[in-house]
Amino acid sequence: MTVDTNAQETDYQFTNSWFVGNIPVWQQILDRNKPKKILEIGSFEGRSTCFLIEVCTKNSDESIDVTCIDTWQGGIEHQKGGGAEASMSDVEQRFDHNIALVQSRVAHRAKVRKLKKLSYEGLSELMANGGVGTFDFVYIDGSHQAPDVLTDAVMSFYLLKPQGIMIFDDYLWSMDRPGFQDVLKMPKPAIDAFMNIFQRKMVVFSGAPIGQLYCRKISD
Ligand SMILES: C[S@@+](CC[C@H](N)C(=O)[O-])C[C@H]1O[C@@H](n2cnc3c(N)ncnc32)[C@H](O)[C@@H]1O
Repeated sequence: MTVDTNAQETDYQFTNSWFVGNIPVWQQILDRNKPKKILEIGSFEGRSTCFLIEVCTKNSDESIDVTCIDTWQGGIEHQKGGGAEASMSDVEQRFDHNIALVQSRVAHRAKVRKLKKLSYEGLSELMANGGVGTFDFVYIDGSHQAPDVLTDAVMSFYLLKPQGIMIFDDYLWSMDRPGFQDVLKMPKPAIDAFMNIFQRKMVVFSGAPIGQLYCRKISD
């Protein structure tokens, strides 16, 4: 295992840099929108979670609230032969370490709720417990299988406040090579279906070459 720590991130335990390319666009979006109640589907080692906490606590005088849903069992890409193999129990330990570290750095102004569940189970729990229409920001980066992504998008829509931001990761991701892709194992068909059907309720405000899609809820 290579633990990537650089001067800015001393003591964090990150083993990949998937998220790093998103930082310039995210910084602008977070500075402009200042979310305080955040939902993340797919947290892994907490790299995106720690970035959200660092920036959003700086942007707010009040404490912020972050809910992380993850099975910590990995997707198919984290299993043997999947290209991003990982021991998920180690990943979860690094998540716990990284979250404790960032919370200490921001003087515990970030409340983090960890829901170790399948995303539809965690999202149902949030809905059943008064979460509908309360989140400022949702990051969808869990399973990359089309049925799961569509379910995450639709359920998250109802948890999002009007004007809330939804970001999809890995819009163009596939495990298969071009020309041989199984569309049901990719996020793109699910994200396209969701955005087409919710086009009077969601608007895309940016798409980045790094393969993320940025949208805003414009109507209930
Ligand atoms: C790509 S990683 C998330 C990366 C993280 N957002 C970051 O930037 O470092 C995807 C995560 O989604 C989780 N996951 C996959 N399928 C899931 C599902 N159906 N429900 C909940 N979590 C899931 C995996 O366990 C994995 O930790």
